[in-house]
Amino acid sequence: MSMKLFASLTLLVWFSTATSSLAQSNPRYVIDTHGDSLETDEIYYIRPAITDNGGRFTLIDRNGSCPLHVGLENTDMPQGYPVRFTLFVNNNNYDDNDDDVMVNNDLKVTFVEVFSTCVQSTEWKLGSNDTNIGRRFIITGVDDGIQSALNYFRIVETESSGIYNIRWCPTQVCPTCRFICGNGGIVRENGKILFALDGTPLPVVFQKKDD
Ligand SMILES: *[C@@H]1O[C@H](CO)[C@@H](O)[C@H](O)[C@H]1NC(C)=O
Ligand SMILES: *[C@@H]1O[C@H](CO)[C@@H](O)[C@H](O)[C@H]1NC(C)=O
Repeated sequence: MSMKLFASLTLLVWFSTATSSLAQSNPRYVIDTHGDSLETDEIYYIRPAITDNGGRFTLIDRNGSCPLHVGLENTDMPQGYPVRFTLFVNNNNYDDNDDDVMVNNDLKVTFVEVFSTCVQSTEWKLGSNDTNIGRRFIITGVDDGIQSALNYFRIVETESSGIYNIRWCPTQVCPTCRFICGNGGIVRENGKILFALDGTPLPVVFQKKDD
């Protein structure tokens, strides 16, 4: 073996070892539809990865009363509200400079730029179990309970890069709690598309506003 070939093989081995250990130790960032990592100081539209499932995420008046529900537009038109993500911060994961969202980070999801008749927070909140259909709807409002666990969701990976599920399982907020975790999916009711746990998970993507 020539010295040159040996050297390049060594380099190749070193390089692949270095990149694979980098990939393992690297936290997995959530990426938007442009392949950029999701940031807490940007706002995003959430929409289904497959368009037949509805349009962008929005606020839905389910039955003429507040609080408003989290749901999806019926059309693919540029409607709906963007959201802002706010990371859960504790002493273990606190990092001053990090405004990137990682998978399985507990975070709050809040609709922004909303003009709503409900004088209520536009933070997503897990609602109670609708026992008629056995689904827990995602509504809006502030959870006044311990650590506001009902307000913390997370973005989890699917098998496809850039496509995610939204899950409620706030174990960073409360590591000792026993939650009945669940992924968000859709419920169609009276021509409306509502977002709820405990069904088929909806694959979603994040589209940065103004791009
Ligand atoms: C609307 O739905 C909520 C729960 O989703 C229920 O508590 C309330 O009674 C309903 N209101 C009407 C007018 O049906
Ligand atoms: C919701 O209610 C249904 C029907 O009573 C029940 O089967 C289901 O286990 C409940 N889900 C949760 C998460 O408690």
